[in-house]
Amino acid sequence: MLDGKSALVTGAGSGIGRATALAFAREGAWVAAADLTLEAAQRTVAAIEAKGGQAVAIAVDVTDDAAVQAMVAAAVSAFGGLDCAFNNAGIAPHQVNAGGVLMADMPEAAWLRLLEVNLTGVWRCLRHEVAQMRQQGGGAIVNTASVAGLVGLPGAAGYVAGKHGVVGLTKAAAVDHAKENIRINAVCPGYIETPMTEESKRRRGDAITARTALGRFGVPEEIAEAVVWLCSDRASFVTGSNWTVDGGYSAL
Ligand SMILES: NC(=O)c1ccc[n+]([C@@H]2O[C@H](COP(=O)([O-])OP(=O)(O)OC[C@H]3O[C@@H](n4cnc5c(N)ncnc54)[C@H](O)[C@@H]3O)[C@@H](O)[C@H]2O)c1
Repeated sequence: MLDGKSALVTGAGSGIGRATALAFAREGAWVAAADLTLEAAQRTVAAIEAKGGQAVAIAVDVTDDAAVQAMVAAAVSAFGGLDCAFNNAGIAPHQVNAGGVLMADMPEAAWLRLLEVNLTGVWRCLRHEVAQMRQQGGGAIVNTASVAGLVGLPGAAGYVAGKHGVVGLTKAAAVDHAKENIRINAVCPGYIETPMTEESKRRRGDAITARTALGRFGVPEEIAEAVVWLCSDRASFVTGSNWTVDGGYSAL
């Protein structure tokens, strides 16, 4: 589905990003795997290469604009262009010591950090990717939002606000750049088994699966399938949309 295309993935060292980098490669794309942890990105690259794919690892912190610009430049220099991008790097409330903290009790630093990584980080990636794609005459981008971008979740105000922001940013960016032949969509995963959700699975896994129509957590590969399709030419009339892949969580 992506033969001969080049694809960039942030947060490619773990979870959904790693699975999507592997799926991109399986579908014929060259993959630039970017992560805060270079070693994790390198492990993803090794897994792609072991299956005969081509990939490069890039260290990036999506809160650093110069690093994001350098990441896009590195992907372009490795593969001669940028056709697809998956802006997926993100953090959960527990990673800023705010897991389960009520909105009014949340420290400002935790709020700012969640928005900085999860929302402004996506915007930084988008602007540098669009700058490259408009020079080439087009491209396709997917941002990782969440069911937390569609509904409220308890004890996660900063995360919920950031993910609703990603949904809005995706629509606005899609409208702004449609005439430049750049499609921009979002995926909204439900609860997916990754390192990010290990703690919530332990603490309230039963409640989460009870609330999910399909009665289980998803796996990262199930998100990757939607991202591959959205980045492919099969989705040629799809832009500014949110693709919910949540086992029915938001339908209940
Ligand atoms: N797992 C879920 O249930 C779930 C549900 C909805 C949305 N999401 C979203 O999916 C995305 C991926 O989550 P995951 O579950 O795979 O998590 P994960 O923790 O397994 O992977 C996230 C990756 O992002 C990287 N990262 C974090 N901060 C970064 C930064 N500043 N710069 C660059 N890379 C950074 C981490 O190093 C890690 O490799 C996130 O945006 C998350 O909010 C996850």
